[in-house]
Amino acid sequence: MLNFTFYNPTKIIFGKERIRDIAGEIPKGSKILVTYGGGSIKRNGVFDEVKTALQDYELMEFGGIEPNPTYETLMQCVDIVRKNKIDFLLAVGGGSVIDGTKFIAAAAMYEGEPWEIVKTFGKKVKSSIPFGTVLTLPASGSEMNNGAVITHRALNAKLPFVHPSLFPRFSVLDPTKTYTLPPGQIGNGVVDTFVHVVEQYLTYPVNGKLQDRFAEGLLLTLIEDGPKALAEPKNYDVRANLMWCATLGLNGLISAGVPQDWATHMIGHELTALRGLDHAKTLAVVLPAMLKIRSQDKKEKLLQYAERVWGITTGDDNSRIDAAIGKTRHFFESMQVATRLCDYNISADIIPAVVEQLKAHGMIKLGEKRDVTPELVEAIMKECL
Ligand code: NZQ
Ligand code: ZN
Repeated sequence: MLNFTFYNPTKIIFGKERIRDIAGEIPKGSKILVTYGGGSIKRNGVFDEVKTALQDYELMEFGGIEPNPTYETLMQCVDIVRKNKIDFLLAVGGGSVIDGTKFIAAAAMYEGEPWEIVKTFGKKVKSSIPFGTVLTLPASGSEMNNGAVITHRALNAKLPFVHPSLFPRFSVLDPTKTYTLPPGQIGNGVVDTFVHVVEQYLTYPVNGKLQDRFAEGLLLTLIEDGPKALAEPKNYDVRANLMWCATLGLNGLISAGVPQDWATHMIGHELTALRGLDHAKTLAVVLPAMLKIRSQDKKEKLLQYAERVWGITTGDDNSRIDAAIGKTRHFFESMQVATRLCDYNISADIIPAVVEQLKAHGMIKLGEKRDVTPELVEAIMKECL
């Protein structure tokens, strides 16, 4: 096992009707700005529940944070926060709203040009406005981590950043609030969570027995309950399991002490920046190709994955690995998330653009061994067509 430091201060408030408990988590007299997306919370009653819970507070709201939140939209909110001396933010929505709110929380306190926060991977952040979240889409894990991914439309860039001050103070996870999710977003959520786990598990062995079994437990639960969420959208326990999977999938627990990959995610972000493809759809396309091209580097973990997650124990090493990659692709498609670029009307001409963008963003040594070069990315992308 590798050395590690594990720190996560976020309080998780889980279950039915827990939105009402947020008042107890926010300092009395706070001036709160509620941030949200395109209006799903206005349509499904979540906004009204939040307003009722915070009736003793001075409240303002900022809506319109788009999927893959943009610097351009978020800077409008930074102005409002500064002008109105907002001292607490409440993000109500999915990963885009929460990530966007993390950027607002840091940018509002930043004296320089806020895009520098993202460009320097959060290194220039000194402090941020405290915030909490009410999660409505289980996928990103943003509700219990200190990272965010922000898009700069004018620069055609989508980049991640992290900072210790950007852990939510609390996050409300009420599975009933996910009942209004369309099937496409249910599928996205399961696939994103699945790939988060794989990025922290399908690397090389360091005898992290617990981390491996945690990861396998998360993957087995997604495989079992993912399809059920499409078939029975109002099955509370199924939605509860998926929600807790998504949070535990990227809160730092399963990556403590083991190697991490993230090459699939970095390529995915470029595909979204270039073509606006949903985050999870980019991952469903890139991961099977990534595993195929790098199967020798990941051999031991792929064989363990084949056996423990998919019950594949017969055939030679390569056929077991191919079978496990096939099962993974089939699982994504069973969640109604297609796995080839052609399914999204994207052709081979995207490949040089992705490679150029990665180079421009300094992402030329990706993966757990920092050996995923632009040349290898080209080979991987050719497998995605
Ligand atoms: O904007 P509204 O109207 O709320 O609609 C949203 C949006 O259109 C809708 N939605 C959310 N909850 C709903 C709902 N519709 C009905 N009922 C509900 N309960 O779903 C759409 C997608 O929402 P979004 O927040 O974009 O999805 P997701 O949670 O998948 O977040 C994606 C973003 O997270 C980033 C991605 O890059 C992407 O920008 N990620 C953040 C990470 C992190 N912070 O650690 C890691 C991830 O790998 C990922 O990169
Ligand atoms: Zn992701």
